[in-house]
Amino acid sequence: MRVVMIGTGYVGLVSGACFADFGHTVTCVDKDQSKIDNLENGVMPIYEPGLDVLVDTNVKAGRLDFTTDPETAIGEADIVFIAVGTPTRRGDGHADLSYVYAAAEEIAGYLKGYTVIVNKSTVPVGTGDEVDAIVQKTNPSAEFDVASNPEFLREGAAIEDFKRPDRVVVGAQSDKAFEAMTELYRPLYLNETPLLKTERRTAELIKYAANAFLAVKIGFINEISDLCDAVGANVQQVAKGIGLDNRIGSKFLHAGPGYGGSCFPKDTLALSKTAHDYDAPISIVDTVIKSNDERKVSMIQRIEKAMGGSVSGKTIAILGLTFKPNTDDMREAPSLVIVPGLQERGANIRAYDPQGLKEASELLDNVEFCDGAYECMEDADAAVILTEWNEFRALDKGRMKALLKSPTLVDLRNIYPLDEVKDFDYHSIGRPTTS
Ligand code: UGA
Repeated sequence: MRVVMIGTGYVGLVSGACFADFGHTVTCVDKDQSKIDNLENGVMPIYEPGLDVLVDTNVKAGRLDFTTDPETAIGEADIVFIAVGTPTRRGDGHADLSYVYAAAEEIAGYLKGYTVIVNKSTVPVGTGDEVDAIVQKTNPSAEFDVASNPEFLREGAAIEDFKRPDRVVVGAQSDKAFEAMTELYRPLYLNETPLLKTERRTAELIKYAANAFLAVKIGFINEISDLCDAVGANVQQVAKGIGLDNRIGSKFLHAGPGYGGSCFPKDTLALSKTAHDYDAPISIVDTVIKSNDERKVSMIQRIEKAMGGSVSGKTIAILGLTFKPNTDDMREAPSLVIVPGLQERGANIRAYDPQGLKEASELLDNVEFCDGAYECMEDADAAVILTEWNEFRALDKGRMKALLKSPTLVDLRNIYPLDEVKDFDYHSIGRPTTS
């Protein structure tokens, strides 16, 4: 099949490369000429494990190319994806759909023959109807359907998630569109991946409901971890104890400094707004948004407490800045709240992140960025683990202790077994302190 992907952000680029790898012919489009030039030279705009190799292989096989001018590719396409950004609109929590609608209008002008236009961007319920109306108005003779095909990729594991998903969700209004989408996902369909076919609005809501549910799960275990601290229980064992119940499941029960990233914060907010707009508020989601915002701030007090009640004049080594490991993405990262909060209280911050330093240096002021974890800890009054990068799990504890001025270790991701850190004044989340 011939596929066009409008938008070479995280979702568009990963999906485009994976569809090419399925054997389809894919053109990825972006308005940003320098991004396209870079992609043509094999330079990825984001860090995602395996993406550079996947892109290179498919470009060389002639199945994947990049352009700023989509006219020809759209004219020949069977399926055109809209995978542009839907940022939170300034001033309120609604998703900003202007890029989606602009893409719909542009696509409409170039359509030739029957084409399925698919929303892959995370869009509020009813956006498909609006895209449908825009295309019809712009090009009344166009032969098309509009479908919704939400993505469930996790940054850092996106290619694996794309190729081995738990399910594929397609929302459409016609058999012809479902047939085209089934053909597109044929390699997964043959592997018996469930392909859920729904009405378009339902598919749009599934995406938000999935992300909000996962956010609620994280918010829940984070609050349980505070109770664990208060009563002297261990949150990891509580998570295991409840997670073994199949009705609950063991995933997304890791307590931490609060969820971040480009999805959960934005999508919970957008779902909440939609629910209020339709006069059907989801109070549990409203609560988790508030709980998560407060969580990030409460981490500042937690670090302060671990350092004897004040961080003023102290040097703190922050290990990990990105919102999660295996990405360079800093969007809504807890570090963006915690680092300035510590600085306001008089702390000097030194920081290291395996991939996020470049992004972080544009967002955080007055931070001494270091080239490695050990260098970062030298003569610091405490080390704080903010992101659970694997390389931090393997750090030599003896060397860490020797480098730090005092052996205070605040682990906001619970990455160390308690018996490994007995020699530290070690504070983690919802587990006993070792000092
Ligand atoms: C999330 C979803 O997991 C994907 O299914 C979805 O496709 C994606 O959003 C999206 O809407 O595009 P992502 O934001 O990449 O993916 O990352 P997650 O692995 O879900 O982590 C999100 C945040 O939750 C991170 O800050 C992470 O540290 C935190 N988290 C996750 C926890 O604090 N505890 C957990 O147990 C799991």
